[in-house]
Amino acid sequence: MDNEILRALRERRSCRSYKPEQITDDELETVLEAGTWAPTAKGLQDPWIVAVQNPELLKKISRMNAAVWGRDIDPFYGAPTYVLVFGSDPAVWANSVPDGSLVLGNMMNAAHAIGLGSCWINREREMFATDEGKALMQELGLPEGLIGIGALSLGYPAAPPRDPKPRKENYWRVVK
Ligand SMILES: Cc1cc2nc3c(=O)[nH]c(=O)nc-3n(C[C@H](O)[C@H](O)[C@H](O)COP(=O)(O)O)c2cc1C
Repeated sequence: MDNEILRALRERRSCRSYKPEQITDDELETVLEAGTWAPTAKGLQDPWIVAVQNPELLKKISRMNAAVWGRDIDPFYGAPTYVLVFGSDPAVWANSVPDGSLVLGNMMNAAHAIGLGSCWINREREMFATDEGKALMQELGLPEGLIGIGALSLGYPAAPPRDPKPRKENYWRVVK
């Protein structure tokens, strides 16, 4: 079958090169709102979403992420917007990581649907477990005890994405 949504799901690719221009507030809010419609366990809406566009803060988050990775690069590919997703400690709420991951997935697909590029950027768990990360979560006005689940780089694509790999053999099976 085919329709607009299915095409968007097939065609979304990770974007690793961004134009410096900032996206519009309308575009950002569209992506964030799509995140809020992700299903969450028990409907508890456990995740917390923080969009960052402040240049100093972008630099700091990029540096913190690169430090976890042990590399001197910008892991966010120069994107003008980052979207960070946090959730409860899994020891407190076992579904926080799947909940947050679905929020991130919704936002990536929504970004693609409106012509934006995005990429999941890893290492949030580690970077927000440091003293600096915990202090930053407080600065961002988040409640205590959350963990970093994942982040997105977000912006206008500056280059075509990599071609997708073919889907692996036997990815799914049907048992009737
Ligand atoms: C949990 C997770 C972590 C990822 N971390 C990174 C990352 O740190 N940096 C990056 O460039 N891409 C990252 N990606 C993007 C994947 O590399 C990408 O989704 C995969 O290669 C498939 O490509 P596509 O998204 O274009 O279909 C991550 C994706 C997921 C789901």
